[in-house]
Amino acid sequence: MFRCSSTASSPTLLCLTLWPLWSLLMSAFCHPHHSPCILTQKTALCSNSELSSVPGGLPDSIEDLHLNHNHIQMLQDDSLSRYVSLRTLSCADNLLETVGSKLFHNSPHLESLNLAANNLHVGYQQTSLALLTLSRLRVLDLSKNRLTEDMVSVLLQNMTSLEYLNLSRNLLLRLDESSFSDLHQLRELDLQRNMLFEIDGSFDHLHKLQRLNLAFNYLPCLVHFHMTQLVVLNASHNAIEWFIANQDLQEVFQLETLDLTDNNLLFFPFLPTHSRLRNLHLSQNRVSFYEHLADTFAYPNWKTSVQFYNLRGNMSNVTAKLWDESLHGDISSLDLLDLSGNQVHYFPQGFISKMPSLTRLRMWTNCLEVLNLTLEKLPGTLYELDVSNNRLTELHADQVSLRKLGNLSFLNLSQNDLQTLPAQLLSSLTSISSVDISYNRVGVCPLEAGGGGMGGVNQSDCVVCRNIISLRYLYLSGCNLGRLPSSAFVGTPLTHLELSNNPELIIGPRSIAGLSRTLHHLGLGNTGLRHFDFSPFHHLKSLNISRNSLTQLPASLLRLELKLLDLRDNKLTTVPSAQANVLATKLHTVFLNGNTFNCCQLDWYRTFEKTVTIMDLSDISCQDLTKRTHRVVLVDSLICGGSEGESVYWYILLFIVPVLCLVGMAVIFLLTFRPRLLPTALRTNSYLQ
Ligand SMILES: *[C@@H]1O[C@H](CO)[C@@H](O)[C@H](O)[C@H]1NC(C)=O
Ligand SMILES: *[C@@H]1O[C@H](CO)[C@@H](O)[C@H](O)[C@H]1NC(C)=O
Ligand SMILES: *[C@@H]1O[C@H](CO)[C@@H](O)[C@H](O)[C@H]1NC(C)=O
Ligand SMILES: *[C@@H]1O[C@H](CO)[C@@H](O)[C@H](O)[C@H]1NC(C)=O
Ligand SMILES: *[C@@H]1O[C@H](CO)[C@@H](O)[C@H](O)[C@H]1NC(C)=O
Ligand SMILES: *[C@@H]1O[C@H](CO)[C@@H](O)[C@H](O)[C@H]1NC(C)=O
Ligand SMILES: *[C@@H]1O[C@H](CO)[C@@H](O)[C@H](O)[C@H]1NC(C)=O
Ligand SMILES: *[C@@H]1O[C@H](CO)[C@@H](O)[C@H](O)[C@H]1NC(C)=O
Ligand SMILES: *[C@@H]1O[C@H](CO)[C@@H](O)[C@H](O)[C@H]1NC(C)=O
Ligand SMILES: *[C@@H]1O[C@H](CO)[C@@H](O)[C@H](O)[C@H]1NC(C)=O
Repeated sequence: MFRCSSTASSPTLLCLTLWPLWSLLMSAFCHPHHSPCILTQKTALCSNSELSSVPGGLPDSIEDLHLNHNHIQMLQDDSLSRYVSLRTLSCADNLLETVGSKLFHNSPHLESLNLAANNLHVGYQQTSLALLTLSRLRVLDLSKNRLTEDMVSVLLQNMTSLEYLNLSRNLLLRLDESSFSDLHQLRELDLQRNMLFEIDGSFDHLHKLQRLNLAFNYLPCLVHFHMTQLVVLNASHNAIEWFIANQDLQEVFQLETLDLTDNNLLFFPFLPTHSRLRNLHLSQNRVSFYEHLADTFAYPNWKTSVQFYNLRGNMSNVTAKLWDESLHGDISSLDLLDLSGNQVHYFPQGFISKMPSLTRLRMWTNCLEVLNLTLEKLPGTLYELDVSNNRLTELHADQVSLRKLGNLSFLNLSQNDLQTLPAQLLSSLTSISSVDISYNRVGVCPLEAGGGGMGGVNQSDCVVCRNIISLRYLYLSGCNLGRLPSSAFVGTPLTHLELSNNPELIIGPRSIAGLSRTLHHLGLGNTGLRHFDFSPFHHLKSLNISRNSLTQLPASLLRLELKLLDLRDNKLTTVPSAQANVLATKLHTVFLNGNTFNCCQLDWYRTFEKTVTIMDLSDISCQDLTKRTHRVVLVDSLICGGSEGESVYWYILLFIVPVLCLVGMAVIFLLTFRPRLLPTALRTNSYLQ
């Protein structure tokens, strides 16, 4: 990138001798001094320059012209006529209402046009005439232009070369067969954030469409889905109650990603019979499984199928058999299944084994009550399993099925009601790296228990955490832990141990000593912490000792190389200067809100302020001598005085009274005994006026 200076008096000679090279550089990289644009090779960057028209005087040869964030209201017919090589024109976020119908007459190579965030709804007709002349246009962005579907059909007529089209953030309500009928080459279409509630047959002509984004609209259902060539379909954040693919098609659907997040699905989607679906996003719906209702003899009056009638005549009616869970379609290629935030009570029989290459199963916030890993036959490819925030009271598994989960690295069981687990759960998972068991009623097994032979997967109220060489992150918040057994984590190279919210926790001298060489983060918030010797934990970088009623900092902290320290909600009145100075050289981040700081002992604040980020600074308060509360940031030394403020304050109080008395006495003396002084003074004043 070059910016040239306008005059160069001393290097003239050099310039002359290098003239051919210089002029080459000039034409390629430089531009007249007054131009608001930056030129790099064939690109002119003129964004954010308060322009109201296309700047003249750019090199004729430019190929990319960027005019974003200016004030251009109209692109005149001849404003691009010099730039015959133009390939990309970007004029987003201006005040553009229309473009001249002959604007592109000399731009035969234009391939990419970005007119996003303008006011094209005003002059769309004339704009459409200009677009008609762009026979090579591949990329068009018309997002955020307040366009309705009628304006869009005018703008898009005969745009047969388009491959990418962005119509997001417009005012589209409904689409039909005619909407995109000319866009035979279209590969990607972004329609997110409109108000679409109907899309009847509108994509039928788009035989090359691979990516379709319909997120944030008002679609009530997607039935008779038959776009076999589509690779990514994003219909998240609509009001979809049904997704039903055309299950009669024997063709393989190319669909790889289907996003139906945040809709109103009650049923697992009725997917294509043959597909390559890898990512299925179904979180934030109301999906449940109904296998237990499939027995039509028990419920003879239940409807067994749902039909969708096409009101516009001859299109086939769609029928879905409801309670038959064998009709989920082809999920054999699934890699990610996200069902979090639904109402799943159980997995239908054989459901999970239909997904032999699943790596991520996200089930947080559902209604699972029992998880029997032996029964479910989770695949060996599984890498992440999140069943947090369900109603699990039991987790069962035998040794064989646990050993099979050789790739499982992330396991989240938190926020359930687990009371028993296979004690050897973690020791049997050979790749386990992060486990969250927080907010359950299970503890850490002592040395004696659960340690039995290799076959020991008996249910237990504790889990063995020793000798798990792959485990790095362990979260045991809110598990009602009491005394941690000694050597509880021996042989497990944890870097991250979270024990917060266990108010009865007692950490014996040898319970976590084994971690001194690996531990980076230790969470001891709300654990009734009193005295703890942190000095062995040389590698600790992050420590949370919030909510512990501490009146002073543990001295051993000062020997650590901490970067982050959470001291919130304790009973500190100050951080002594000696400690603050040491901490300030090491800490990056500190939390201090919720202590009972003394406003007169805030030296720590001035020390920290220089080098440490105090995350909750604006919330931290202190009390002055009269127990009034102030924000630390607003405290000035006069409230009670800092060390230097204090002396000044008292000096003033001590000396101002006698001084005032003396002055008063002097005045009285003078007025009484030198009466002529007054008229003189008055005379002088009036004279000056
Ligand atoms: C679009 O193309 C068709 C066929 O080439 C042509 O008949 C029609 O006039 C064109 N429409 C416009 C608005 O130019
Ligand atoms: C379409 O435009 C919107 C808004 O201008 C933008 O957020 C979105 O990323 C664009 N879509 C694609 C696929 O580039
Ligand atoms: C679907 O679109 C929404 C909104 O743009 C986006 O947040 C989400 O990541 C998209 N989903 C996928 C799978 O890309
Ligand atoms: C419906 O009928 C129209 C004309 O009657 C025909 O053009 C169209 O192909 C039919 N659609 C289907 C899905 O059969
Ligand atoms: C769809 O169902 C309606 C009502 O039962 C029926 O009249 C119509 O013929 C059906 N259409 C097709 C194509 O089967
Ligand atoms: C878990 O499933 C296995 C296999 O079906 C079964 O043998 C075992 O009894 C189940 N365990 C429990 C506690 O239900
Ligand atoms: C486990 O993961 C590794 C790397 O992610 C992969 O190469 C391997 O194939 C996986 N094993 C199984 C059984 O899926
Ligand atoms: C486990 O899940 C809970 C609740 O869904 C979440 O808050 C927590 O951050 C997760 N734990 C990890 C380690 O990601
Ligand atoms: C598991 O339980 C059975 C029966 O309750 C018992 O015989 C066996 O010793 C236990 N195994 C271990 C490793 O504790
Ligand atoms: C420290 O632990 C408490 C729980 O006791 C938690 O609320 C807080 O967010 C933690 N602090 C940080 C910085 O994560």
